[in-house]
Amino acid sequence: MQVIIKKTIEEIANEVSEKFATLIEKKPKAVLGLATGSTPIPTYQKLVEKIKKRGLRVDGLTTFNLDEYVNLKFPKESYRHFMEEHLFHPLGIKREQTHFPPEVNPEGYDELIQKHGGIDLQILGIGSNGHIAFNEANTPFDAKTHIVDLAPSTRSDNSRFFPSLDDVPTQAVTMGLATIMEAKEIILIATGANKMKAVKAMLSGVATPSCPASILNHHPNVTVYLDEGAAGLLY
Ligand code: F6R
Repeated sequence: MQVIIKKTIEEIANEVSEKFATLIEKKPKAVLGLATGSTPIPTYQKLVEKIKKRGLRVDGLTTFNLDEYVNLKFPKESYRHFMEEHLFHPLGIKREQTHFPPEVNPEGYDELIQKHGGIDLQILGIGSNGHIAFNEANTPFDAKTHIVDLAPSTRSDNSRFFPSLDDVPTQAVTMGLATIMEAKEIILIATGANKMKAVKAMLSGVATPSCPASILNHHPNVTVYLDEGAAGLLY
């Protein structure tokens, strides 16, 4: 894993959006793996700017998101809604180009990704408990797309988007760790001091189910971008 520490979130957003823009320029039919959450928002903003400025075409792209809530009472908090707001609508990416893991036959999602030739570039955030997508602690490393019970810490972290903790769904459907590991290239971004423990565990060099993100130690092409807060325990 290559680890890059930057002073500001803006610098990270600039570099990561550049990698996506370069890929889209070189491969207009690229398959993108996308994450939601607070972390990728600045990167998506920069990517929208770059794509518009350079006049890049997006109509050949295919996207696969990492996860989606199950039994959501608030449609505005769906991850599809998030992606529409931050990326798809600003870029004019059509619904048929985009995919989210389904509640019915989740494993079919892995087959669909393979049918499209696999994910060229996957962006990831990391949970404060070390999850990637919604693969919580002790998810088997060979898990494909599946339905999960969200960890109490994940529900608590995500309650900031809901009226109360009780409104946060208890389940989600997520790409599995094996699905994520099939991506050709992965970029993980972690920002803020609340991620420092998870980052330290991920970068310990040993893949352990207690920190799902640590499986990335076994992937040949991962770049981790950290700000100084997230890198706080590495010095
Ligand atoms: C979201 C996802 C999650 C988030 C993680 C960090 O699609 O897969 O793993 O990346 O929970 O969330 P933020 O960025 O909100 O801290």
